[in-house]
Amino acid sequence: MTSTAPKPAVQTGRVVWFTGLSGAGKSTLAGALHAELLARGVNVELLDGDAVRENLSRGLGFTREDRDINVRRIGFVAELLARHGVTVLVSAISPYADTRRDVLSGLPNALEVFVDAPLEVVTQRDVKGLYLKALAGEIPHFTGVSDPYEAPEAPGLHLRTDRLSVQEGVTELLRALGEA
Ligand code: PPS
Repeated sequence: MTSTAPKPAVQTGRVVWFTGLSGAGKSTLAGALHAELLARGVNVELLDGDAVRENLSRGLGFTREDRDINVRRIGFVAELLARHGVTVLVSAISPYADTRRDVLSGLPNALEVFVDAPLEVVTQRDVKGLYLKALAGEIPHFTGVSDPYEAPEAPGLHLRTDRLSVQEGVTELLRALGEA
């Protein structure tokens, strides 16, 4: 016999949006949170800046216009996934405050996470060797060096990655998501 009871609506997923300078730790924290949520059986997807630029945004550069197109595309995909109950972790510099505000305001349950480390620290870390090149003038429009980064004024969560371990950051994220 088939049930006549209405199917429960798919619960909307959350979007956790990691913004910050290159090398601040966005992908590291998003990756660690992703692993933790997967282990807890959460339906979760990661939209990482580098992977997005290799696929969805291939060919885009780093002018304001291209960055805004990139960020809006990510927001579009995040909204589709969240609508189907997926918790979405976005990792993208997303440097412009008004574009971020606009995109995040269209997302359900968005949590803006400011992944923050001072420029001196990320320059010293220089995980990808890009700051050295940018400081030598070899990379135009490099965020924090020759291009702006507009920090969130009131992020949902502010993580200083020069003061917190990855695990401590994940613990704060889980608490903010009500998953602790
Ligand atoms: S944005 O501003 O949100 O569209 O940027 P995003 O898609 O996150 O891409 C940032 C990664 O691209 C590399 N890269 C640069 N970053 C900043 N400025 C310039 N000019 C640039 N050129 C290449 C860099 O590896 C960034 O990776 P992350 O993960 O942030 O370190």
